[in-house]
Amino acid sequence: MKLAGKTVVILGGGSGIGFACAGAASRAGASVAIAGRSLEKLEAARAGIGADVRTFPVDASDEKSVRDFFEGVGRLDHLIVTAAETKAANVSGMDAETLRPTLDARVWGGYFAARHAAPRMGEGASITFFSGLSARRPYPGSSVISASCGAIEALSRSLALELAPIRVNTIRSGIVETPLLDGFYGEDRDEFLRSLAERLPVGRIGSPDDIAGAVMFLMGNGFVSGSVLQIDGGGSLV
Ligand SMILES: NC(=O)c1ccc[n+]([C@@H]2O[C@H](COP(=O)([O-])OP(=O)(O)OC[C@H]3O[C@@H](n4cnc5c(N)ncnc54)[C@H](OP(=O)(O)O)[C@@H]3O)[C@@H](O)[C@H]2O)c1
Repeated sequence: MKLAGKTVVILGGGSGIGFACAGAASRAGASVAIAGRSLEKLEAARAGIGADVRTFPVDASDEKSVRDFFEGVGRLDHLIVTAAETKAANVSGMDAETLRPTLDARVWGGYFAARHAAPRMGEGASITFFSGLSARRPYPGSSVISASCGAIEALSRSLALELAPIRVNTIRSGIVETPLLDGFYGEDRDEFLRSLAERLPVGRIGSPDDIAGAVMFLMGNGFVSGSVLQIDGGGSLV
């Protein structure tokens, strides 16, 4: 896919899947902007991509921060929103204030991003959101994460109508090796990933580049809108 002359913005592009998307878009010739809360992380990502990437500090859950970010970015062609927090807890085990950022970053973050990006987008534009397999296959402790994933999928379908002809889609990701898993599985991370890989039909967990390839497809195919694209190595089957 050629992205020369296009501007691709990744909210959450400082690590993991967003970082892989930034690299893929840059290699395809796009002008790339990445955003997240940690400038240090963004600077490391910029160095890793090795191209002229713009970086912006943004808190997705704060509308003023998101509005200022898009004012700084200016015109854009494709928006990818990977920013998310994922706090797992049993329903009786954690208070709402601790869990609220998990809803706020993905759902309100996605809403604010669409709201302030759309007026700056032109012909052929797209927005790609992220959910996870827990939208369809929850596990104990995932209630708020699952709710955030279900909500962004519903929001995405609704915005595909409201913001048309901007195309709006969501990637429902399976387990992918990124820094997100460090915080989530802690010391058990490697053992969890090894046993999961054995169970998956594809025999391995995902790489950020697997998902970046799917994002490139969604940006490039002008007939895809309102879709949830599940990329999970067959994880929903086992
Ligand atoms: N990896 C998986 O196995 C997996 C599975 C299912 C779904 N997903 C989804 O895929 C997406 C990407 O995840 P990933 O694995 O690439 O995780 P990641 O490496 O942790 O990347 C998430 C990025 O979002 C940024 N972020 C978090 N909260 C933010 C906020 N409030 N405002 C702005 N930026 C924020 C983080 O940077 P700062 O901390 O600097 O802000 C981070 O760079 C997420 O939506 C995740 O839920 C991933």
